[in-house]
Amino acid sequence: MRSLSRVAVGAPLVALSLLHLAFGSIDGFKDGVSNYSFPDDFIFGVSTAAFQIEGGWNADGKGESMWDTYLHKHPEYTPDRSNGDVAADSYHKYMEDIDMIKNLGVNYYRMSISWPRILPNGTDNNINHAGVMYYRTLFEELLRVNITPIVTLFHWDMPTPLMDLGGWSNPKIVDYFEDYARVAFNLYGDVIKTWTTINEPHQHCYNGYGHAFFVPALLSHGVGEYLCTHYILLSHARVYRMYEKEFRAYQKGRVGITLDAFWSEPKNPDKPEDVDAAKWYLQMHLDIYAHPIFSDVGDYPSFVRERVNNMSLQQGFSRSRLPYFSAEEIDSLRGSSDFFGLNHYTTFLMSQSNMEKEWLVPSLDHDAGVKVEQNLTWPLPGPEWLTVYPAGFRKLLNYIQTNYRIVKKIPIIVTENGMGDKGQIEDYERCSYFNDYLYQVLLAIHQDNCNVQGYFAWTLMDDFEWSDGYVTKFGLYQVDFEDPNRPRTPKLSAKNYRNIVRTRRIDFNYIKPPLNRLQSNRL
Ligand SMILES: *[C@@H]1O[C@H](CO)[C@@H](O)[C@H](O)[C@H]1NC(C)=O
Ligand SMILES: *[C@@H]1O[C@H](CO)[C@@H](O)[C@H](O)[C@H]1NC(C)=O
Ligand SMILES: *[C@@H]1O[C@H](CO)[C@@H](O)[C@H](O)[C@H]1NC(C)=O
Ligand SMILES: *[C@@H]1O[C@H](CO)[C@@H](O)[C@H](O)[C@H]1NC(C)=O
Repeated sequence: MRSLSRVAVGAPLVALSLLHLAFGSIDGFKDGVSNYSFPDDFIFGVSTAAFQIEGGWNADGKGESMWDTYLHKHPEYTPDRSNGDVAADSYHKYMEDIDMIKNLGVNYYRMSISWPRILPNGTDNNINHAGVMYYRTLFEELLRVNITPIVTLFHWDMPTPLMDLGGWSNPKIVDYFEDYARVAFNLYGDVIKTWTTINEPHQHCYNGYGHAFFVPALLSHGVGEYLCTHYILLSHARVYRMYEKEFRAYQKGRVGITLDAFWSEPKNPDKPEDVDAAKWYLQMHLDIYAHPIFSDVGDYPSFVRERVNNMSLQQGFSRSRLPYFSAEEIDSLRGSSDFFGLNHYTTFLMSQSNMEKEWLVPSLDHDAGVKVEQNLTWPLPGPEWLTVYPAGFRKLLNYIQTNYRIVKKIPIIVTENGMGDKGQIEDYERCSYFNDYLYQVLLAIHQDNCNVQGYFAWTLMDDFEWSDGYVTKFGLYQVDFEDPNRPRTPKLSAKNYRNIVRTRRIDFNYIKPPLNRLQSNRL
């Protein structure tokens, strides 16, 4: 998955969050089976990411990713002093993973390639044969049982030697990412027909370059975060055009990007300032990536451009902290995705503010001028940042569909959606989260005509949740991280998801929490 945007959940919110419903649904408990069903050709799948499950951090010639290097140097970075050295050990246990995916009844598996596993130095002069064979075998075994792998090239595990040169803030990264992508297309393009270039550029740049919430923990607020944005976008476009030119004619695949977005509600819908704040938030966090790729005109949204330019000028910078695209770059970015990959987890409430005490100056937070809060009446069954507001999902899908006309021609594919908890097998809250969020997808498809063609649950099994270590669990399968064999056990949510996939409908009664549990958990 992604993980969290910790800035949204500073200390004051943690205390207040005790007031949240621990369990329940703001639109009441639904009964029976959904009247709408998922279309026959709707894609159901499940997602993972290499660094979060594979382990085998130095196995068979793999190079280090920045997460390996950083966590070895700073074990205190995660609350449980953990790292990804073994994780769920999928480097060795992938055949079990495949059985689990098969048991869910889904036909698609979204996973990522670890860049340093196949290019230990990040560069294409040194290809690690064992790493190449790992993915080759995995893909073939998946296909043998009719599961189509969908592959992300970059799910945050930047090779350390390239990070040492600035990672995504170095303009030359565009060339090195293109080299890596070409190696991957040459190696696997015969069997992989859907690629995503980069997962959640917003979370990556904001938390990792602007803040220290994720590795590389650069804290280059207001400068590094926009360089990251800029060169990630250019890297994506470069790879899309390269595939188009060198591979598409004979490999006949598609290439897209996965963006993340929280839905954004005005704190007070009757207050025009709050309505504006909610719009600003989406522009600064989602549209800054979506507009260059999916809009008719291309380039950064004019609001974002003006806002960062204004602030930079006021702050005494001699140029805008947000770099400019050339005309050719704007062209090359526009339309450079064959689908809109979307990761969504939760909704926040927005109002305007000139300054909040946790904001750094300069920074994207400060540039945006939007104060982010939670609605304390929404359920908060898991991590402190993830309130449950299913209706926000439908609104977000509509926002994308209305703002980006290209989405009529290309599909929206939900590449991640899910909920975190402590990892219990009887995960009733996760069952109802999936029921309620998937129900909103049904409404978006059937009532709003949104072109949503696929859905991937986050995530197959409990895993390494970035700066949360193994504290928060998102899996449909439980993994026992104390046991060297990393045994996997299906949770109730696995059974529930399988039923949705099999029947193409949501049965709200399929898994029912015991009555006493409902009562004792309600505040
Ligand atoms: C299905 O439709 C019936 C009749 O309109 C309604 O009573 C029922 O609540 C609907 N079920 C769900 C789960 O929406
Ligand atoms: C390339 O990676 C290998 C394996 O991690 C390492 O031993 C070697 O020193 C690296 N070479 C360079 C030039 O970084
Ligand atoms: C940028 O500054 C100009 C001049 O002060 C102002 O008119 C405009 O509204 C500002 N733009 C944004 C997006 O804040
Ligand atoms: C919080 O959510 C409840 C239930 O959806 C809603 O009635 C209320 O208006 C919301 N409050 C705010 C401040 O958005």
